[in-house]
Amino acid sequence: MNKDLVTIFELEDADVADLLALAKDMKANPGAYRTRLAGQTLAMIFEKSSTRTRVSFEVGINQLGGTGLFLSSRDIQLGRGEPLSDTARVLSRYVDGIMARTFAHQSVVDLATYASVPVINGLTDFNHPCQALADLQTIAEHHGDLRGRKLAYVGDGNNVAHSLMMACARTGMDFACAAPSGYRMDADYVAKARALADRHGVTVVETTSPAEAVAGAHVVYSDVWASMGQEAEQKKREQDFVGFQVDQALMAQAASGAIFMHCLPAHRGEEVSAEVCDGPQSVIYDQAENRMHMQKAIMLRLMER
Ligand code: CP
Ligand code: NVA
Repeated sequence: MNKDLVTIFELEDADVADLLALAKDMKANPGAYRTRLAGQTLAMIFEKSSTRTRVSFEVGINQLGGTGLFLSSRDIQLGRGEPLSDTARVLSRYVDGIMARTFAHQSVVDLATYASVPVINGLTDFNHPCQALADLQTIAEHHGDLRGRKLAYVGDGNNVAHSLMMACARTGMDFACAAPSGYRMDADYVAKARALADRHGVTVVETTSPAEAVAGAHVVYSDVWASMGQEAEQKKREQDFVGFQVDQALMAQAASGAIFMHCLPAHRGEEVSAEVCDGPQSVIYDQAENRMHMQKAIMLRLMER
């Protein structure tokens, strides 16, 4: 693997396969890994709120024998304008890895550039690679082989959509995104994913029709309509996304045995009905759990000496 995990595009196919195998073993045999990062420290920089990412990284590094250091950007000098380059260089003198959740994607890119230690993207406005990698683990648990499966994402063409698209392209899964016009994914990133999908003989489809996206899908995925930082657009988005709720009628149009996925936090009654979110097809808590197993695998591969 490269020094850092910034996006899934920068991983090799073999890296993803290796992380999936490792995360599966770490979940089955946690005791075998208890001292693998003994004495190491992960700095965790947060510009935005988090439940899953913060707790799963902190507990995960503890389970590997290391320590997590929570750094709210409000409390460190970064929040008062200290350059990212200095933050990255200084932290690299103290810690063995940095996980960062930032608004601008460029902030994580800059941290990776200037830090001499590994940098892991814990969500930016553009990507959420740890989420999508953990989701691949969850899909594999429920459906076996990833290759040839189809994931339909219904909603905003956001950070989670981008990472899922790239995760599917890397692992030979068909991907379809249904978003209202005006909320499509980044065109350059779609082109990159399409080139990768072509190599695997699968497709990346963009549509404004949720029914078209979910047809034949083994996974139906949704995320909030207004992401962190977009709270002022909430009301407008609720109007623009009418017809994009994943409900029982939409799930019925997916493949038989389809699972429902959501990165959480979820807004029941908006992007997903409570019936689907809490229903028998939903695997949302498996997803949340697998964040920790997958991130332990990522930390091990990037930080183990
Ligand atoms: N899915 C996810 O990243 O959740 P948090 O925002 O709680 O970390
Ligand atoms: N798209 C959401 C994901 C939260 C985990 C956001 O960025 O707020």
